Amino acid sequence: MLKNYISENKDRFVNELMDMLRIPSVSADPKFKADVLRTAEFVKQKLEDAGAENVELCETAGYPIVYGEKIVDPALPTVLVYGHYDVQPADPYELWHSPPFEPVIKNEKIYARGACDDKGQMYMHVKAFETMMQHNALPCNVKFMIEGEEEVGSSNLGTFVKNNLDRLRADVILISDTGMLGNDTPSITSGLRGMSYVEVEITGPNRDLHSGSYGGAVANPINILCQMIASLHDENNHITIPGFYDNVEELSEEERQEMGRAPFDLDKYKQSLALSDVHGEKGYTTRERVSIRPTLDVNGIWGGYTGDGAKTVIASKAYAKISMRLVPNQSSEEITEKFTKHFMSIAPPSVQVLVKPHHGGEPVVTPTNSVAYQAASRAYEEAFGIKPVPVRSGGSIPIVAMFKSVLGIDSVLMGFGLDTDAIHSPNESFGLFNFLKGIETIPLFYQYYTEMSKSN
Ligand code: BES
Ligand code: MN
Ligand code: MN
Repeated sequence: MLKNYISENKDRFVNELMDMLRIPSVSADPKFKADVLRTAEFVKQKLEDAGAENVELCETAGYPIVYGEKIVDPALPTVLVYGHYDVQPADPYELWHSPPFEPVIKNEKIYARGACDDKGQMYMHVKAFETMMQHNALPCNVKFMIEGEEEVGSSNLGTFVKNNLDRLRADVILISDTGMLGNDTPSITSGLRGMSYVEVEITGPNRDLHSGSYGGAVANPINILCQMIASLHDENNHITIPGFYDNVEELSEEERQEMGRAPFDLDKYKQSLALSDVHGEKGYTTRERVSIRPTLDVNGIWGGYTGDGAKTVIASKAYAKISMRLVPNQSSEEITEKFTKHFMSIAPPSVQVLVKPHHGGEPVVTPTNSVAYQAASRAYEEAFGIKPVPVRSGGSIPIVAMFKSVLGIDSVLMGFGLDTDAIHSPNESFGLFNFLKGIETIPLFYQYYTEMSKSN
């Protein structure tokens, strides 16, 4: 029985994951380059150990993609597993209760950067594969594509995919890089938001100035930047960029009611974030605000003097990083263009504005009437004893839309994380229950998917 093998080997599975979590594979920071590469080697080795063939580090212009496969019979369906071995920066380090790259188990959870996003979830697939291989129970073909640049926009994955159309041929893409509503309310992600990310730079005077000698007479770029950013939302928290909502898919009342049936406790939500109230676009519920509605958020803002004590200065420059989450049928290129045009237009003549586009990605909705979704649903239902509900997620995995447009393949988003796992935050964690339940659920998906594909 696969379940017995998982419980007999669970300590080893967890220890291996902890070994991987000790390698700080932060793709955003060049300081960690050797560690990111070491993590790719680690994944390659573990795939080989588990029984994958043709395992290879595929070079790209950035970090390598780990590829591996097990072809049982070309006539059988093929599952392409996607995941990422890179992690977000761990800053601010001082907010961690234990060091981010020294994983510890506390309250039945593993605490470390990447514990959930995505090392823990990606590794469930490696161990599920090992489990099936050990029992001669791999019912179909499997291919693995594990990248190292997801957290920085997957900028080299598109080229890799386009250059490897044949090698990547598959019937479904399987991804565990999302979450579920709760351990007693399993859910399957049925959509992701897209993204448009920009950096802005406001320049006032050509040098930093004494705020007494010049204050009041010249534009302070930080003041101006704050005014400009504040004007991007109106009193109803609608985004004011002209045309921003032009193509936004509006859901019907029935669809919204259907969505509203997924369990959600607003009081618990507020409590867990120590908020006395939520905040968002008028006319939409909290769940809707984080799934079917687009947003604009400042991710960082800086300029001037932020050191100890006080320095009286008008800075020459001010900066901000801004992300916009997109929903069907917005296009990231179009939104970036609209943002740029609008942001330039609202600047007073006393400053200069530069808008630098970063990475983007398209939103996606995955079908819930497909064989793959139904197989995933049955797998969760058997593993958790509860039928999962489809939930559209607010996060972004830009390659999901790209897989659909380039490879023509739909993805199934079988996530096992929880909101409380605090991905991208200090003290990220992943429940041992979730890690092991994932390893148990994945082989059930393979089994049902293969069976249901045959009878289809
Ligand atoms: N795993 C997340 C995406 C995610 C988070 C999906 C939460 C569903 C719920 C992924 O690693 C991620 O962080 N993606 C980035 C986008 C990327 C372009 C940097 C994101 O959503 O900010
Ligand atoms: Mn991720
Ligand atoms: Mn992430």
